[in-house]
Amino acid sequence: MQQLNNKQILLGVTGGIAAYKAAELVRRLQDYGATVRVVMTRAAQEFITPLTLQALSGNPVHCDLLDTEAEAAMGHIELARWADLVLVAPASADFMARLANGRADDLLTTVCLATDATIAIAPAMNQAMWRDAATQANLKTLISKSVAIFGPGDGSQACGDIGPGRMLEAAILAEMTADQFQSNKLDGVKVVITAGPTREAIDPVRYISNHSSGKMGFALAQAAVEAGASVTLIAGPVCLTSPDRVKRIDVDSAEQMYQATMDNLANCDIFIGAAAVADYRPAESADQKIKKSAETLSIELIRNPDIIAAVASHQQRPFTVGFAAETQNLIGYAQSKLEKKKLDLMIANDVANTEIGFNSDNNAVTVIWNGGEKTLPMTSKQQLSRCLLSEIAQRYRENEAT
Ligand code: PMT
Repeated sequence: MQQLNNKQILLGVTGGIAAYKAAELVRRLQDYGATVRVVMTRAAQEFITPLTLQALSGNPVHCDLLDTEAEAAMGHIELARWADLVLVAPASADFMARLANGRADDLLTTVCLATDATIAIAPAMNQAMWRDAATQANLKTLISKSVAIFGPGDGSQACGDIGPGRMLEAAILAEMTADQFQSNKLDGVKVVITAGPTREAIDPVRYISNHSSGKMGFALAQAAVEAGASVTLIAGPVCLTSPDRVKRIDVDSAEQMYQATMDNLANCDIFIGAAAVADYRPAESADQKIKKSAETLSIELIRNPDIIAAVASHQQRPFTVGFAAETQNLIGYAQSKLEKKKLDLMIANDVANTEIGFNSDNNAVTVIWNGGEKTLPMTSKQQLSRCLLSEIAQRYRENEAT
């Protein structure tokens, strides 16, 4: 029932009598584990108050594109990036027309235009309006733009008519929303992912590490599970909860991460090295806390094993995907690491940009392979992970076929 755990659902409510069902829908989405934020059109507020949906969702309701205070708190672009999925329920005939035509004349249509997340709509209108050629043409356009269409149902309507145009029940919409996150792209595939930093002990109280939070690797693990893979997540020291249905192995140092990776290679079809592994560790880790005395202290560092290079040159070599965190010459350095470490794919990550990369909720990357590259623009790490998993699955399958 918790298939929407860690999922952020933006519920758009438009003007129609079915808007009252949005209150129930917020609850049902939460039953599935989702965090819900609500955007309402002006017409929706004639049918149900923002206060009701605010109380149920536990979050402020967003109503206006031109409200400077609301924009300062969470602007339309932030909302668009926040959403893992935008569900518009009910979706009126007018909203469908505006969405189909790419209008951005209120907050909801603007968010829909700005988001990379899947958009799903639950149409609700009078049966004659639904059947009208204009609505059907808009529907066709929306389907061609990959908007998911939930319903409508058939039956007696508030206006007394009988026919198609009833919004589906909240429980069914919540279930259909959860289904949007499941795919079979990696059904039966075993994926091992490393995530987070490593810590290299100097003495019992000090260590060398880096700024990796593990968010990217954990988001990849979640996306891989949703794609049907069985996932082993080898995590450095991070403060994150494991995604559901993931086997997690906690490690501290690069050497421990190396050992855990090697122990799990027999059961691995795809390896993704998202961890920021320390390249060096102190040659010796002191048994007792080093006391302050001299003005300077030198620590000799020695090379750590290169985990991903060892994976890629292993006899039971899985399809191997690396990340390259760079602060300059991003594509050049990533390309040379792809070749040097003999990887199948390299994901180039510009960590000089503080809006993306280490510890941020968003990321933007370029996927590089032998003979091509593809840039994925800035979005949430969750959303990006779904796109990355699609790319990885496609190239893995092509590789399998040759
Ligand atoms: O964890 P977050 O806060 O969400 O941030 C995400 C991230 C920036 C850490 C992530 O997206 C990322 O870029 N990870 C790779 C960081 C890194 O160590 O890059 P690198 O260029 O130094 O290493 C290249 C590849 O070799 C990586 O796949 C790395 O896991 C691997 N490696 C490196 C050194 C080593 N000793 N063993 C390795 O396996």
